[in-house]
Amino acid sequence: MLLPSPWRADFPAIAALQRQDQTYLDNAATTQKPQALLDALTHYYANGAANVHRAQHLPGALATQAFENTRHKVARWLNAGDSRQVVFTSGATSALNLLAYGLEHLFNAGDEIVISALEHHANLLPWQQLAQRKGLNLVVLPLEDNGTIDLNAAARLITSRTRLLAVSQLSNVLGVWQPLPALLALAKGHNAITVVDGAQGIVHGRHDVQAMGCDFYAFSSHKLYGPDGLGVLFGRHDALGRLKHWQYGGEMVQDTDYHHATFRPAPLGFEAGTPPIASVIGLGATLSYLSNLDQRAVETHETALHALLVDGLKQRKSIRLLGSPQVALVSFVVEGVHNADLAHLLTEQGIAVRAGHHCAMPLLQSLRLAGAIRVSLALYNDSDDVERFFDALDKALELLQ
Ligand code: ALA
Repeated sequence: MLLPSPWRADFPAIAALQRQDQTYLDNAATTQKPQALLDALTHYYANGAANVHRAQHLPGALATQAFENTRHKVARWLNAGDSRQVVFTSGATSALNLLAYGLEHLFNAGDEIVISALEHHANLLPWQQLAQRKGLNLVVLPLEDNGTIDLNAAARLITSRTRLLAVSQLSNVLGVWQPLPALLALAKGHNAITVVDGAQGIVHGRHDVQAMGCDFYAFSSHKLYGPDGLGVLFGRHDALGRLKHWQYGGEMVQDTDYHHATFRPAPLGFEAGTPPIASVIGLGATLSYLSNLDQRAVETHETALHALLVDGLKQRKSIRLLGSPQVALVSFVVEGVHNADLAHLLTEQGIAVRAGHHCAMPLLQSLRLAGAIRVSLALYNDSDDVERFFDALDKALELLQ
């Protein structure tokens, strides 16, 4: 089946990678960037960089306007309602760390934090370390065989002791959407704070944080075709109001003398120091580009391409998929073949996929695997990419089996 991507030419790196004989299928790790983003970065740097929120001068005013414009675009993208609920961080990881420090004062020894067995290290380690600092219990929700969080177990394990629930929207290893409405309802039933790691979910479809009803939602710009070094923490007004300031420095302070200080509320109160101005402006350009795409067409293309990938893998008898992947990515192992050997042979043939534990070591351990190969798609991939992957896979398996 031929599945061309109408958006491929918008991403100049794809052609460049092709000239280097590279087929890029590691999009869950990071994505290539649209020309619109490159233009915005060049425009900003070529026409006068300036710091934001500080200067009276024209370049400063223009930079601030472009910077804040992105905050509005992010709020619209998430249907956040109010851009003051959008905090810029250096990535999803730093957004989740900000929460683990900023909420620390709300926990007492013996309280429970609930996560799931499939969390990326970014949504495990900040809570694990908080639990160690404060003597909390970290409760881990088990999974069903298909890779969704087990809701019966969740109903048992989310209790009045639960102070916070932090779960992924879409697993970066299994490609399975998680049952957020049911999980968030369970947590809210016990007045727990709810945190959603949207690092993978944000990339596929449009998500409405008000409809979702979470307290916090975190994602990274670089996975959503934006620049790296930038993340977003959405927080409801009341939830942000409970957050203690975490990093201290310029622009986050309201008033200070040598011995005392008062701090600004969100968002600026959580954006100490010079933020990644160019990246924020670049994310704005990326969101404008994405907003102009036919979202339905993107989803139809990604679904068809994913089906092609999953069906092709299922036809190869020695291959075992992890879970029942629903969107964008698939991880697999091959009987009797080490994932690193297979990854090596794919790399030699110019196929860029990720191998190993995918920053979800405990999940791989619970599946009794040292690692797996992950193939992940983006809107610019097409059926030729998938075919090249299968050609390379078959050649590699011929050598290894
Ligand atoms: N979190 C990224 C991944 O899953 C890096 O590959």
